[in-house]
Amino acid sequence: MKKALITGITWQDWSYLAELLLEKWYEIHWVKRRTSLINTDRIDHIFQDPHEENKKFFLHYWDTTDSGNMIKLVADVKPDEVYNLAAQSHVHVSFDMPEYTANSDGIWTLRILEAIRVAWLEKSCKFYQASTSELFGWMDYNRPEAWYNESSPMHPRSPYWCAKLYAMWIARNYKESYWMFCSNWILFNHESPRRWETFVTRKITMAVAKIKLWLQEKLYLWNLDAKRDWGHAKDYVEAMWLMLQQDKPDDFVIATWVSNTVRDFVNWSFEEVWIKLEWRYSWVDEKWYDVETWKCLVEVDPKYFRPAEVNYLLWNASKARTVLWWEPKYTVRELCKEMVRSDIEKFERDELLKSHGYTVLNQCEW
Ligand code: NAP
Ligand code: GDD
Repeated sequence: MKKALITGITWQDWSYLAELLLEKWYEIHWVKRRTSLINTDRIDHIFQDPHEENKKFFLHYWDTTDSGNMIKLVADVKPDEVYNLAAQSHVHVSFDMPEYTANSDGIWTLRILEAIRVAWLEKSCKFYQASTSELFGWMDYNRPEAWYNESSPMHPRSPYWCAKLYAMWIARNYKESYWMFCSNWILFNHESPRRWETFVTRKITMAVAKIKLWLQEKLYLWNLDAKRDWGHAKDYVEAMWLMLQQDKPDDFVIATWVSNTVRDFVNWSFEEVWIKLEWRYSWVDEKWYDVETWKCLVEVDPKYFRPAEVNYLLWNASKARTVLWWEPKYTVRELCKEMVRSDIEKFERDELLKSHGYTVLNQCEW
């Protein structure tokens, strides 16, 4: 049985990765930082599995800023595969907390690589680094999209991406210097019903569900013309696992190769609840109205402005297709539908419980 050590377990990617690795009979060591509030609702279903024999999980407490703890943990567990997903991953927040982001996303990767090396596991342990599409930053509209791939020049546009660029290069450096198996996954935006609530897709689908159920009046956004290539996290964790099953380490762009605007995502989400919108005015005065009631449902709020922005993201993911034989199964419309439906179900359930006097509690034991 292979042993996997996974960092960053409370959010989206980990929960899908854990489901996949369980199917493949891994022993999973998962590490989480201590928080004063319980935040394990995305993974509770995995730990509430009634079949004892499926419980191949071991919880360890740790933080990306704590190297001593990681050195001890890696030496004790001796993992076959390390999936490094933990990060302060919000771009806007990284402008508010640039130093913390550099430490927890950039230097942290060095800490874990060193932990593997000093435990003498550099020849046996495969290391996966969650890198990001936005490392490329600018996209030159005059060049065909097909040109941009794993070796295109990088131009990060936020403290988060600068930290991730360091993380990617230090992983490449350990591969070249110590012959470690280090692969970088250059990920485009991937979403799901388990996406954190402040990323734009989930913010939109939650607001649409709440507006439909009369629990929220309006949705506030910024930069509706930003374009992103959105895939489903479930598809992307499969690529993650495939990368570590290769004979040689390598870097891969993982994307669906279709780019849409935030505006499109808003429209599709409202279409799922049969609300048709029409917009009036433009730029910071933009407002969207329900064509039946003429109630304003979406507005622009400069609060979400970013000092530097990446307006367009679309890259060539053909290497992952030809080498890993990886193909995304979900389209962005299917993803949007699943997210809206799941949010409607969630809020309906919460409201029903509240109406019966129950508090909606998280059930995690630790
Ligand atoms: P996410 O939802 O933001 O989850 C990040 C995880 O890291 C959480 O479990 C968080 O724990 C943990 N974490 C953050 N700071 C920590 C610290 N100081 N110590 C310990 N744990 C810490 O991210 P995701 O969407 O699942 O993405 C996973 C990885 O892929 C990240 O590295 C992200 O940068 C990268 N990535 C994601 C996308 C995407 O579109 N989703 C695209 C490109 C790259 P708490 O619950 O305690 O906060
Ligand atoms: N979060 C957010 N909130 N974004 C908004 C909003 C809003 O209210 N209004 C407009 N946007 C725009 C952002 O300015 C950006 O252009 C786009 O929507 C997507 O924003 P996010 O969903 O926050 O994602 P991101 O692209 O900045 O970053 C995500 O993807 C990266 C990979 O491409 C994160 O998951 C990063 O961790 C990841 O590296």
